[in-house]
Amino acid sequence: MARAAKQAKPLTDVVKLTRAQAKVEHMRLALEVEAHDRRYYQEDAPSVSDAEYDALRQRFNAIEQRFPELVSTESPSQKIGAAPSGRFRKVRHAVPMLSLDNAFVEQDVRDFADRIVRFLKLPDEQIDFSAEPKIDGLSMSLRYEGGELVTAATRGDGAEGEDVTANIRTLDDVPQKLKGRNIPEVCEVRGEVYMTKQAFLALNRKQVEASEAPFANPRNSAAGSLRQKDPAITASRPLGFFAYAWGEMSAMPEETQSGMIHWFERCGFKTNPLTKLCHSVEQLIAFHRKIEESRAGLDYDIDGVVYKVDRIDWQERLGFVSRTPRWAIAHKFPAERAMTVLRDIEIQVGRTGTLAPVGKLEPVGVGGVIVQNVTLHNEDYIKGVGGDGEPIREGRDIRIGDTVVIQRAGDVIPQVVDVVIDKRPKSAREFHFPKKCPCPLHTDVVREETAMGEEGSRARCTGEFACPFQKIEHLKLFVSRRAFDIDGLGEKQLQFFFDEGWVKEPADIFTLQKRNSRLKLEEIEGYGDTSVRNLFAAIDSRRRIALERFIYALGMRHVGETTALALARGYGSWDAFHEACLKVARKDEEAIAEMDALDQIGDTVIQSIAAYFGESHNRGIVDRLVKEIDAIVDAEKPKSNSKVAGKTVVFTGTLEKMTRDEAKATAERLGAKAAGSVSKKTDYVVAGPGAGSKLAEARKHGVTVLTEDEWLALIEE
Ligand code: IVH
Repeated sequence: MARAAKQAKPLTDVVKLTRAQAKVEHMRLALEVEAHDRRYYQEDAPSVSDAEYDALRQRFNAIEQRFPELVSTESPSQKIGAAPSGRFRKVRHAVPMLSLDNAFVEQDVRDFADRIVRFLKLPDEQIDFSAEPKIDGLSMSLRYEGGELVTAATRGDGAEGEDVTANIRTLDDVPQKLKGRNIPEVCEVRGEVYMTKQAFLALNRKQVEASEAPFANPRNSAAGSLRQKDPAITASRPLGFFAYAWGEMSAMPEETQSGMIHWFERCGFKTNPLTKLCHSVEQLIAFHRKIEESRAGLDYDIDGVVYKVDRIDWQERLGFVSRTPRWAIAHKFPAERAMTVLRDIEIQVGRTGTLAPVGKLEPVGVGGVIVQNVTLHNEDYIKGVGGDGEPIREGRDIRIGDTVVIQRAGDVIPQVVDVVIDKRPKSAREFHFPKKCPCPLHTDVVREETAMGEEGSRARCTGEFACPFQKIEHLKLFVSRRAFDIDGLGEKQLQFFFDEGWVKEPADIFTLQKRNSRLKLEEIEGYGDTSVRNLFAAIDSRRRIALERFIYALGMRHVGETTALALARGYGSWDAFHEACLKVARKDEEAIAEMDALDQIGDTVIQSIAAYFGESHNRGIVDRLVKEIDAIVDAEKPKSNSKVAGKTVVFTGTLEKMTRDEAKATAERLGAKAAGSVSKKTDYVVAGPGAGSKLAEARKHGVTVLTEDEWLALIEE
């Protein structure tokens, strides 16, 4: 729910964001992207459409591009997908499985082609592209040694995937042995596992008959079918595979992408029959149009097309920019819209007390997912007034009973893009925004002030932690993966303990065991001796916790993970941080100035910390929690006496002794700033094999270029 609440304001153009706004939104988006990645890659249960996800990611990237200082090693832009789920053996990919950049409009495609021409410095040469449908399935890497299939792995986080070899062997489209002569000793064939729409519908009918939950779309059912512990279940599900890429190859049998596709066919693979060699941008765009027209008639889901530079030597020259190749792009299809009836409007209260109106819809399918809820943002939005006071939807208000047009794109959750006035029934009811919070405290609802001191559009419950809705959302954040990460204490269990009155605040989690002679958790349905023992062990294991996690877990407004880390690094220890917070709450000017001087911390965060620690109720919550914790582990302060302290470093090319993330983290620990692009201000560029434009930039600006070994020697203590 906190998510709907956070979406309450229409989005400000990225170019208009202040640094402070960008920082807050960057943190929020990073968390959202990560949560979506987790749901998509590990749980096979995405809660947003790809178009929404893309929009989210695009905005996130745009923010990072404008404010590169926000990029950290933890940023989703530096990672691909999510780590594997842990159910299968992990496989490290010999060559990382990367992702594709997206194009949404024709101009993006032209820019992509122009970039390539500029990069290759071949203004007069014709560049051919292999144009392929973008299959909406699950990418897979199949490793053959001596022509025999030895491993099949999912993409996972791009570096490490899950070993699903036994399951993949059951697919007819995957040869156990490669056909043909002169097969290289090592061949990694990559492509997409998918389920046909027909098979998906049949499978869902069976799921429903067996009282099992139906899958949301063919992609999820393919993923769910593949990640089965019992390969016999996979074998019973009709899965297909299209080959379109490769990983490690001990020798390259062909010189072009299209040549490789034909080679895959000769080896015994299926490749997509719609794949076409295009010789110009116009042909790419015509291909996109044609495939979009035939999309509905295909028996498998596609969500766009992919263009790849055909010549492999050019692909190699073009290389990669962070997580995506410069030589390929996915041209996505536009978001889909649908019309449905708004049955009701409910108010939900988020963790921070924001009242979010949620539209309850007559369920409707959009972009392959059934949509039942839609955010209505705030009171003004329902009335047809935008954030700037200007009319939206030409001033049409939204009434219960209206027929609305919804779109699953351009924002994180579905949007109402229009109201069909012609279809408005006489019985349609105007919505009156509540004056009292629907929480049991029935507090007065206040409209938040904007930074300019004007009345904002967001309505808030004033109950803070006394409000049970805010309490439970706060507790959910407390146990979440990025905070205390307590195994066996998910949202469902927590809600149950909360409803029973057993856990009212964080400290109560740690006293559960002491109270269990009375509570008798093992007697509750779904629990047993073992699970209760495991739960207590999991809780105990968190009595020692890193300072940054502890700070994040407190759930202060505007203190997300990145800010918590900055605070932890700034103060080093809990005692120092806690003392500073209490002083800030008492408006101690010196303490405020000290906090303000910290990297990445500004007014909004300071005000929020002051408000939190200004409340005696919150101070009590914190004190009681601290008593239950054995150790809050000090954060490592970035070193100020290392040789690279205060320097800016850029890593580029392939690093061989460490991952890029490790390299950046080490640099930051030593007090250096790891940047994403080279400028005059860069002190060092550490270039591995395959370094391209950044190396050229470094030379242009006369920046010191180091090999990985030279860098390691420099930072050696
Ligand atoms: S090429 C280096 N070709 O799209 C990039 N990917 O958004 C290699 N996908 O992870 C990928 N159809 O799962 C490529 N014809 C196609 C594709 C395709 C679907 C998926 C794939 C990839 C994702 C990237």
